[in-house]
Amino acid sequence: MKSLRKLAKNEIVLREHSFDGIQEFDQRLPNWWLYTLYGAIVFALFYWFLFLVDNGPKTDAHRLAGQLDVLDAKKFAAISSLDDKTLWAMSRNHSFVEQGEKTYQSICYTCHGVSLQGGIGFRLADNLWVHANTPLGIFGVINQGVPGTGMQSWANQLGPQKISQVVAFLMSKQDPNDMKLIPREQEPTILAKNAATAPQP
Ligand code: HEC
Repeated sequence: MKSLRKLAKNEIVLREHSFDGIQEFDQRLPNWWLYTLYGAIVFALFYWFLFLVDNGPKTDAHRLAGQLDVLDAKKFAAISSLDDKTLWAMSRNHSFVEQGEKTYQSICYTCHGVSLQGGIGFRLADNLWVHANTPLGIFGVINQGVPGTGMQSWANQLGPQKISQVVAFLMSKQDPNDMKLIPREQEPTILAKNAATAPQP
């Protein structure tokens, strides 16, 4: 039996039971073993925090991609003549698109919805467009507005840079080869309004 007396160094202690003559040691776990266990627990906590709470350490590649995005965004801001190719490139630039999203969520969302689902204004989330199906065309719609409707011209209030950022934000959700032009009556929010006002049979 494990007695109350202090064990001498390297003394072997056996547990009382014996199965088929096989006995078990009852030793204190060696320090190296315990420290490995404690170390593993500390490491697990650290690792858990780093990867699950903080999304992992930023690698050089991450930082570089972020910096390049910011540089591109600055270059785009300085571009004076716009074309579809540039607007598509802008729409794939994270920080440029983010600026556009800010403008959208502070002005346009009131009529077009926080998730572009439409409302007073047309739905901008799908690939169906009424007034233009190219980035430059859509730039024109936002710049000039649609006379006689709730869509005013934003040229004075936003200016070309902010408008190109908003276009980039809208285009970031579009596929360049899949933007379709549809007649006005087929626009989803118009269809919904017509359905709501159609005479009941
Ligand atoms: C006061 C409401 C209102 C606000 C604010 C508004 N719009 Fe509109 N927008 C409309 C309406 C209404 C239409 C549909 C015009 C029509 O009937 O042809 C429209 C149409 C559009 C279209 C054309 C969609 C298509 O299918 O061709 C685009 C693009 C657009 N808006 C973008 C914007 C952006 C970007 C902003 C913010 C800068 C904005 N709108 C702010 C009401 C609004």
